Order: sequence, then C-alpha cells, then structure tokens
Amino acid sequence: MIFKKVNNGKILLIDDDPVIIDILIRIFAGEQHLLMSAYTAEEGYAQIKDHNPDVIIVDYNLSTSTGCELITRAKNEYGNNAFVIMISGFNDEKIRKICYEAGANLFLPKPFSNEELRLIVKNNIMLKMTADLDGPIMSMLTALHHRDHWSGGHSRRVAKLALLLGKEICLSDKEIGQIETAAKLHDIGKIGIPDEILLKNGPLSETERIHHINLHPVNSKRILEGINLDNKIIDAIQYHHERYDGTGYPNGLKGDNIPFEARLIAIVDAFDAMKSKRPYHDERSQSWVRQEMINGAGEQHCPNLLEHFLSISPIRIEEIYQ
Ligand SMILES: [Fe+2]
Repeated sequence: MIFKKVNNGKILLIDDDPVIIDILIRIFAGEQHLLMSAYTAEEGYAQIKDHNPDVIIVDYNLSTSTGCELITRAKNEYGNNAFVIMISGFNDEKIRKICYEAGANLFLPKPFSNEELRLIVKNNIMLKMTADLDGPIMSMLTALHHRDHWSGGHSRRVAKLALLLGKEICLSDKEIGQIETAAKLHDIGKIGIPDEILLKNGPLSETERIHHINLHPVNSKRILEGINLDNKIIDAIQYHHERYDGTGYPNGLKGDNIPFEARLIAIVDAFDAMKSKRPYHDERSQSWVRQEMINGAGEQHCPNLLEHFLSISPIRIEEIYQ
C-alpha cells in the first residue's frame, strides 16, 4: 500500500501488526516522504522490487519469515541498498547480533522514541541524497581541491550559502539536497584547466578566459553525465555562469529561461567569489559585497532570488566565514 505520493525519499514499513504500521505512518505524516507499507514478507519483497526504497523499517518477527531473511534477500536478489532499521519487541544481544550480521544498520527495541526515529530517518535520507556520488567523481573533486585550495573552501561555503538560501525560500529537503550537491560539484569541470591558468596569480587573458575558464560548466556536465544525477543538479551546474541579462556563458540564456537552481547557485557563487580572499583581492566586508550585488541586480542576478538572499541575516552568513 502507498500512502503518500510526494517523493522526498522512499520509506518502506513492514510489520504484521497494523497498529505498529499506523504508529509509523503517523510518525512520518508531516514529512515529504513516499510512504509504503507491507503486512507480510511477501508484500515487502514486492515493494522492494518495484520501488527500491531508501529506508526500510522492518519488524524482526514477521509471521512467515524474519526481518533478517527479508533484508538479506532484498540486498542479494534486488540489490537494494536501503538504510535498514530493525524493530523488535526483544532487546536481546543475540538477536541484535543476528540483525547486524544480516545487514541491518540500526536495531531499535520497542518501545522506541517516535521523534528519535523520525530524525534518524530524515538524516539518513538527506545523507543518501547528497552523498550518493560515484567514487571516481569524489576522487576528481578531491584532486581539484588539492590543486586549487581555494576551490575546495569555495565549494563548501557555496554549499552552506545555498542551504541558507534554500531554507529562506522554503524549498523541500529534497530540493535543498539537490542544490547542495550542485554547489559541491559546480566547478568540477575546472579539473581540466592547466595549472598555469587555474592557479594564475593575476588577471587572465581573453584567450585564457574564453578557451579554458569559460568551458568549465560544460566540462562539468560532461564529467557528471556518466552518473545518475537528477537533471536539476546537472542544469544548476551547467548554467551557473549564465547572467540574468543574457550576457553570461555557456549559452547566453536570459531571465527566467535560466533554470531556477542555476540562478540560485549563481547568486551564492558570486557572493563567495567576491567575499573570500583571492590572489588578486583581500577578503571583503559583507556590506561591500551586498552593495555590489544590489548594483548588479537585474543584470547579473535574478532580482527576486537576490532579494531573498539579501534578507538572510548577515550574522548567519558571517558564521560561514569564521
Ligand atoms: Fe564556476
């Protein structure tokens, strides 16, 4: 049975006791998850096979099977890599060991704290959405950050600023996760820029800019094409140097033709690039950067999103730079 069709992480609840299923549904009722339930192991297998859940909460004692048999089969036959929470009326060390050996990530004896369970699930879904990146991509990102130290700090600050702006405009957890992932990866295409240009301690020539630096959004897209990332993340990365007046790159998109996520990343990217210390300028005051951004509103940035960004408390932004 599927209770909610908003996909912000998929949770499968398996218990042969309808009362426990009802309690679990109420715990997650306020979250934007796709909730599925199963009252038997067979129903559970079908849901896992069809929907590949991100989190499975399963009772240890099912009438025709044990929760351990179920999760072993889910991993072996269906390749499911959900975060598995085994709930049980028996807080027995031997059973706990069996559950962990079967692949459970957490053993939760009844009665459990509803709020604790809600937060554990929420945190794990967020982690899965933001960190589900291929090993080679993470290696490339690390290599780039070793070559260009500013780039590593810049990505982390841009992700934190994007999180603040995402919360300011009330994006869902899923959308915030996508924006954070895009922010972490937005400059990965710089990996192909030669050191003498990437690390140049002075102004770039027009050739260096056009034939190397300005290609990095498209190169980022090419690098990321091989992994299963949401199109919104790819768009945010590919178009984060477009300008609202249409004079940006790589496509010269204008106004709201620039994907929303890219307009958001563009604002926090530009803010950090102006605010943080670079070889050619010292760290700048937040009030100076804010004024620069106001001066460029409507030319470089989406005025509506910029207004929201500027309404974030300067104190909260300053914490990122301490
Ligand atoms: Fe960039």
